[in-house]
Amino acid sequence: MIADKLKHSEIKTENDSDKLIVEKVFSHKQEHVFRWWNDLTINEQENLLDQLRLIDFTLLQDLIEKHIEGDNLTSPETTTLEPPDIIPIPQNDSQKTRSDEARKIGDNAIGTGTVAVVTVAGGLGTRLGANRPKGTLTISPIMGKSVFQLHAEKIKAMMKKYDTVIPWYIMTSLNNDEMTQNFFEENLFFGLDSDNVSFFTQGVLPVIDLQGKLLMDSKSSIVTSPNGHGGTLLALKERGILSNMNERGIKHIFYHQVDNILIKIADPAYLGYHISAGAKMSPKVVQKTDPEEKVGIVGIRDGHLDTIEYSELSKEERHAINPDGSLKFRMGNPAIYLLDVDFVENINESHFTLPYHKAVKKVPCIDENGCKIKPSENNAAKFEMFIFDALKHAGKSIIMEVVREDEFSPVKNAEGKDSPDTAKQSMINMFGKWLKGVGVEIPKDEVGNVKGTIEISPLYALDAEELKEKIDQKIVFTGELNLQ
Ligand code: UTP
Repeated sequence: MIADKLKHSEIKTENDSDKLIVEKVFSHKQEHVFRWWNDLTINEQENLLDQLRLIDFTLLQDLIEKHIEGDNLTSPETTTLEPPDIIPIPQNDSQKTRSDEARKIGDNAIGTGTVAVVTVAGGLGTRLGANRPKGTLTISPIMGKSVFQLHAEKIKAMMKKYDTVIPWYIMTSLNNDEMTQNFFEENLFFGLDSDNVSFFTQGVLPVIDLQGKLLMDSKSSIVTSPNGHGGTLLALKERGILSNMNERGIKHIFYHQVDNILIKIADPAYLGYHISAGAKMSPKVVQKTDPEEKVGIVGIRDGHLDTIEYSELSKEERHAINPDGSLKFRMGNPAIYLLDVDFVENINESHFTLPYHKAVKKVPCIDENGCKIKPSENNAAKFEMFIFDALKHAGKSIIMEVVREDEFSPVKNAEGKDSPDTAKQSMINMFGKWLKGVGVEIPKDEVGNVKGTIEISPLYALDAEELKEKIDQKIVFTGELNLQ
């Protein structure tokens, strides 16, 4: 059958519902997906129809019109961009007092069981290319613990410290949900009570070629991709997580991305500032390493708090400086947020409005002859929502600066910048800093990395303060130290 000549009457189906979906596909000019219909088994035909049934064709049509056919009509001009007010890293006494006060409020929120953790782990990890969920990567410097184990131990340690329950919700996507859940089961949930760990899958969107046609993975399936970390807000509602949170009395969600190895789970001072300001969604920020670092920044765009992607900043904006010589737009976005449950509810109720962003990529698929191809050039458009687009709906936010070396080291690439190697080194360096703080001599090399290996389990100490209470300060570092 030649796709161009296909008629929907040629696609024999079992019932009216199947017939309807076939008609819909034809009416949206995507009938090429039935090119091999007569070669498919009944099961394969059903699978294809099931996949097609899940597509929101109206949304797909909008995306095609906006991003494929009307490429030049997008992105209205930004009129103003200003740096936001930031809660600084406490340096002087009054800042330290404020931080201590905030911390008490945060301690209370955690202690009374109103805080949950949401970890987003639904991404494909294409740059890393590990073919397994990022959370299952072996990462700790001595014990070889996985990313998930480190997060789990932080949550466990927090629950012990506050004598409370901190429910943990992990967002996966269809491509990695089973592997993720199996990993937790095989590892007995890393000592957490499985009743307090939940998984929920995010939505997917079809991937299209650069002419707006659905790409196919096989003769009976289309290519789909997760709908971006912004899909968390939708999935929290659709998968019943918000209801579960309400039943448990959760008010605040600590959101982080699975690949940040240094994440400080549910930082109490951050919570305290957020709660006392009556904020609804609050980002942490870290200093950019240099004006050209390719990270989004947090700024006030046209009067609204927003995250501005690196590519959207002009060269002048990237290099603009304050009178004291510091970068004007220097607050990078490590993708750490506090979100109130009622805010996530409201954003869903007032019909969900996060925009979709297009990413043009090389996506394996089958060609017109049904042969698998691995393209060397970009051949496909994927669409994703970004969590930070919710910021402008929050009404009230606080923005808190934190020390980058203490809280942000993501695993994005297999090697070089932001890789498993840099993540391990950043853990070692942070532990070295904690140890130095309690008087242990820690040698460093010429670029400032600790010479040697250190691992401190979250179950031993969650931060420098806890380390101080526990450690024998006469300890001598001889190149390897493992505190579990
Ligand atoms: P990234 O944008 O870095 O994507 O996601 P990624 O999938 O990890 O890696 P690449 O871009 O394919 O190489 C940042 C975080 O957001 C999560 C990821 O799991 C990661 O924790 N994420 C991303 C989702 O949960 N869902 C998505 O659809 C996209």
